Amino acid sequence: MGLIPNDVINQVIERSDIVELIGNYTALKKAGRNFKALCPFHNEKTPSFVVNPDKQIFHCFGCGVGGNVVGFLMRQEHLEFPEAVRFLANKAGVVIPDDESTAPSPSRQLREDILKVNGLAADFFHGILLTNHEADVKSAREYLKARGVNLETVKKFQLGFAPNEWDALLKYLRSKGVSEELIAKAGLIIAREGKSGFYDRFRNRIVFPILDVQNRPVAFGARAMKDDDGAKYINSPETAVYTKGQHMFGLQLTKGAVGKLDKIIVVEGYMDMIMPFVHGVENIAASLGTALTVDQIRLVRRYTHNVVMLFDTDAAGQSAIVRSLDLLIDEGMNVRVARLAQDEDPDSFIRQQGTEAFNARVENASSLLDFKFDWLERQHDPKTAEGKAKIAQELLGTIARFKSEVAKYELTKSLAQKMDIPEGVLLKQAGQVKDKFAGAPLAVARNEAETKISASASTGQELLLALFLKDPAWVKAAREHIGPEDFPDGLVRQVVEAIWSLANETSDWSTNDLLVRLNDEAVQSLVTRLISIEEGKLIDPARIFQDCIGKIRQEKQKKARGRLVQAIRQAEALKDKEKADQLTEELNQLFK
Ligand code: UTP
Ligand code: MN
Repeated sequence: MGLIPNDVINQVIERSDIVELIGNYTALKKAGRNFKALCPFHNEKTPSFVVNPDKQIFHCFGCGVGGNVVGFLMRQEHLEFPEAVRFLANKAGVVIPDDESTAPSPSRQLREDILKVNGLAADFFHGILLTNHEADVKSAREYLKARGVNLETVKKFQLGFAPNEWDALLKYLRSKGVSEELIAKAGLIIAREGKSGFYDRFRNRIVFPILDVQNRPVAFGARAMKDDDGAKYINSPETAVYTKGQHMFGLQLTKGAVGKLDKIIVVEGYMDMIMPFVHGVENIAASLGTALTVDQIRLVRRYTHNVVMLFDTDAAGQSAIVRSLDLLIDEGMNVRVARLAQDEDPDSFIRQQGTEAFNARVENASSLLDFKFDWLERQHDPKTAEGKAKIAQELLGTIARFKSEVAKYELTKSLAQKMDIPEGVLLKQAGQVKDKFAGAPLAVARNEAETKISASASTGQELLLALFLKDPAWVKAAREHIGPEDFPDGLVRQVVEAIWSLANETSDWSTNDLLVRLNDEAVQSLVTRLISIEEGKLIDPARIFQDCIGKIRQEKQKKARGRLVQAIRQAEALKDKEKADQLTEELNQLFK
């Protein structure tokens, strides 16, 4: 897909009506010049979601998200940026030039072709399972029935059967005019060794289509019906539309519920996803037999930050969890681990014990620390000093990955309790762990309390930025005194940088011009929050402006003085009197 030009994006945004769009998803009530609503992105009883028709943005003061029409649609419908723009363009009647005039690139064409072939193959396998009466198909149906899979489930997941023949699919696809080359590129057939020609990859197996979150058939998994038929599952190889570890099986069906419930249960296998789902567990998806990858975590993170891992109790399952945990922390996810008994998996568990028992296991999932502690206890003997040190070391390594200093401190404290080690000792050791803890823990705790109190209020820097967003005249005035580098807060600085560069190009820029340039979610939500600040808080803009600029200049001077004093000392140490005098003169100038 070609890049959509910025002016077209702007046009799409300008021609879209954010009030109308959002009104389709939540009931908007007029409140002054804005609209208020219950936030569609988190559960709340009193409305903290604001839509601003003048600026064409939304912001939720409850969960902090905000953006323009495109951002809303991306979040609500889980679309990528270009998909959201295309959708809105269509609605608003804006033509995206590239789409119409240029042919798709060869790689895009190939991807589309493979998806088509996969779709045909899925239909073929499904049709056979539903209608054929040959003995092998009958035994496939019996196999599924014995596993508790009924017709409705077969249809819901478009399960199929690959006949016990060398070229059933190949023949079918050829009859549909598909070239062997393309079928091979889709990974559905394999070249014969030492001979010409191909044979079907999936034979005499139950077929599970793997769909991406946009419901496109990207790959297949196929299960043998007996233990002695080679690998239990054979899966599609990597193709132009399928990279292992990028998808979550079943998520296309459950993404809505995952977002609503703000939690996902991650299991390993096809049946571990399917059976709980048909028993009413709506927020579940499968990683397909490996530790979670960063791509999978980021995919999940579009819908929720809360993960409950529910893997097999065998060593492979448990170590897959352990490998996933650190990555999950790195990606900012909250993770817990639910446990099953030996030889149970989610599929067998829910069939034997039912949905309530299943939900109870998920509810009672262990904290990450408890889980990893138990796991480590099985690797190192906690009764020996050495084993204890190893366990502590490992866990401190995991704790150090958390971004929040408070979380680190709290986790270290509870670890100390759990291991019966004095807090001070562990905190000291924590300081030696690779990713060092910043600052003294107590100071950190105090800061957290402060942040909580001031979270709803805004800092001086933010108020100044709010003025910039309200009226570009403030930008012009500020540019005479300060620059983006004078804003110590990284998020604020990014916005100021973008504003400065916009202001270089035109005096007539809009909030949407700005939002289009800022694609980081945190930065966008800062902008929408500041725009949504009630008028009352910016009652005396001139005063805010002077105070803030004054403070920034003071800071700037303080820093400059610090640097000069340092340089003077250095010059004196080097006995460079001339330089020292010159610098001292500069310093005096600063105090004037
Ligand atoms: P399991 O061995 O736990 O199988 O593999 P399972 O999911 O319980 O399968 P059933 O219930 O016996 O049918 C977990 C997952 O690992 C992948 C599959 O995605 C499987 O669902 N796997 C396993 C393979 O890809 N190939 C294999 O040979 C085995
Ligand atoms: Mn199983």
